[in-house]
Amino acid sequence: MRVLLIGNGGREHALAHAIAKSPRLTQLFISPGNPGTATLGKNVLVSVGEPAAIVEFCRKEAIDLVVVGPEAPLVDGLADVLTEAGIRVFGPSKAAAQLEGSKDFTKSICDAAKVPTAAYATFTDEAAAVAYVKTKGAPIVVKYDGLMAGKGVTVAMTVAEAEGALRSLYANEKGAKIVIEEMLTGEEASFFCFVDGETVLPLGSAQDHKRVFDNDEGPNTGGMGAYSPAPVMTNEVEARTLAEIVCPTAREMVRRGTPYRGILFVGLMIGDQGPKLIEYNCRFGDPECQVLMLRLETDLLDLLDGVARGELAKLSVVLKPVSAVGVVMATKGYPGDYDKGSVIRNLDEAGTLPGATIFHAGTRSDGSRILANGGRVLTVCATGKDLFEARERAYAAVAAIRWPEGFNRTDIAARGIARLKKESTHG
Ligand code: AMP
Ligand code: GLY
Repeated sequence: MRVLLIGNGGREHALAHAIAKSPRLTQLFISPGNPGTATLGKNVLVSVGEPAAIVEFCRKEAIDLVVVGPEAPLVDGLADVLTEAGIRVFGPSKAAAQLEGSKDFTKSICDAAKVPTAAYATFTDEAAAVAYVKTKGAPIVVKYDGLMAGKGVTVAMTVAEAEGALRSLYANEKGAKIVIEEMLTGEEASFFCFVDGETVLPLGSAQDHKRVFDNDEGPNTGGMGAYSPAPVMTNEVEARTLAEIVCPTAREMVRRGTPYRGILFVGLMIGDQGPKLIEYNCRFGDPECQVLMLRLETDLLDLLDGVARGELAKLSVVLKPVSAVGVVMATKGYPGDYDKGSVIRNLDEAGTLPGATIFHAGTRSDGSRILANGGRVLTVCATGKDLFEARERAYAAVAAIRWPEGFNRTDIAARGIARLKKESTHG
């Protein structure tokens, strides 16, 4: 198979790493890719903003399957354009990608399919939104309806904070659609399922660390690390998530004539009453994808192609009996301002340590050197027989990398490990 993978992050390096192992692969192109994907296939530059250019590239290179990493091109309808051109694509249609593209849309699906989620109301009028916040009181959550690169959500602990969030959203866009919802409590987990119409095939769970500093302090980021599996996602929680959240959603999408086909990223809050939906994403998570791909035994290309063909029901997922931990190394200053161009040394040696795999995100190659070229620069991962071993190995690899301009959290997987320790002392 000749495959075109779209994206340039750590997620896409991990997808390329898994796709490259498939005996069915003859040629992998990545657009635009990064120095990590360049070791697994050929990086090319086809503008994702120009679907016609992608179609032309696919025809010229006889591409059998396009795999779309990020959400924005899916929400813009790239999968529809490719499908109409007769090119097979992994990733949902524009209509189905609304599960990530519009929070109000997802809430309407939850209403129709009786999916447990936070109680909410949707507004386009600022005064009405402010009045609602005042009646409800804090804590309360304010969300921009559409895509905002992870910056559209404020979990407000005071009414003043919620009002501030509304003011800045409405200053930015008059008449903006805003969802205001109750704050859920519990522990968060990310759960990933391949979905093809009504067929749902779970891939696995992970937990992300969104805040920039240890102990979940500091501003939100795109994700500073992840581990998989997430012990909070017990068999019982997983069964309830499938029965109460994912399957009803998949059925409702089919009923509306817009079946979901792709990977569904289910953001959950697991509290006293069981799992509730926080949000859906129409893609793999970053850095969750990196740790999931290291656990996957099944040929990823079989899964991606099976979903794209509408033949998921014939497939299954097998995971290796290992845990995986991924530590993001970022440039000092991130998520604020940071410099580019510092040299990262000893990557090759670090990558050969037991269980270690290093995925690139914001890097650039300069001859034989690798330079930092972004905020989140690397995801340093390792597998081990359990979370303890995986964490030890991941941090051993981090310690071997010589990059004084970088930093990382030191507590990735701590919550999962604490849960395992508690379970073992309670028998
Ligand atoms: P989202 O962009 O929807 O992923 O939201 C970003 C983060 O905000 C989530 O990962 C949660 O940590 C938090 N969040 C969103 N909605 C809620 C909610 N209703 N209750 C508590 N936390 C929330
Ligand atoms: N790690 C969270 C995300 O990919 O949205």
